[in-house]
Amino acid sequence: MKAFTDSWVDTFSTVYSDEPLARLAWFTASPGIELIKLVADGVIKRGDRVVDLGCGPGVDSVFLAAQGMHVTGIDLSDAALEKARAWARLSGVSPEFVQGDVLDPPLSDGVADVVTDSFVFHNMRDDARSIYADQVHRLLRPDGLFVLNSFSDRMVPGTGPRRITSSDILSTFDSTRFDCEELRTYRNLPTATKPDQIHWIGRFRKVG
Ligand SMILES: C[S@@+](CC[C@H](N)C(=O)[O-])C[C@H]1O[C@@H](n2cnc3c(N)ncnc32)[C@H](O)[C@@H]1O
Repeated sequence: MKAFTDSWVDTFSTVYSDEPLARLAWFTASPGIELIKLVADGVIKRGDRVVDLGCGPGVDSVFLAAQGMHVTGIDLSDAALEKARAWARLSGVSPEFVQGDVLDPPLSDGVADVVTDSFVFHNMRDDARSIYADQVHRLLRPDGLFVLNSFSDRMVPGTGPRRITSSDILSTFDSTRFDCEELRTYRNLPTATKPDQIHWIGRFRKVG
């Protein structure tokens, strides 16, 4: 099954070859600001094994590797992974980048202390969501942490991915399998078309 709608599948299949990174709405050249805080606060720690689902050009993955985590980034797009590998090389770190589908990641059960999702879930089709949550759960070790960064319904309507409600998130990463430690909005960096970027940051602990 496709994880995203056809139009997003089409977009992601070409955009990394056709456009410079700075033209991509989700590319800021900086790791996520809430991800930086989680590292600064010691929630994600040196030595942790992190799987970055839909890592794109690898900005979060390279940041985490530079902070001493063992990182595996997964993306469907070879062109995105090529850029991610180039950035890792320039930075002198060695995260592993794997071409694969987040609905069927080619990784073993329990490989991750932490799984991160930066701007992947909000593109996902409704019927793919529970498969995705199964995979996040499968990849995490017992008590492992899932960190979700996504568009929210507190943003103005308009172009781009769907706006996501808290119940979309809580019904997908549900309490039978995930303990929600935190789910709140924050103000992310503005873009030219979206000055009010109110996004979700969620922290979920694997249960079961
Ligand atoms: C909005 S981008 C976010 C990239 C990166 N996480 C970031 O924050 O810069 C979404 C990413 O999901 C990837 N993607 C789309 N469908 C996928 C799938 N089924 N499996 C793996 N990656 C996928 C796209 O290629 C794209 O790089």
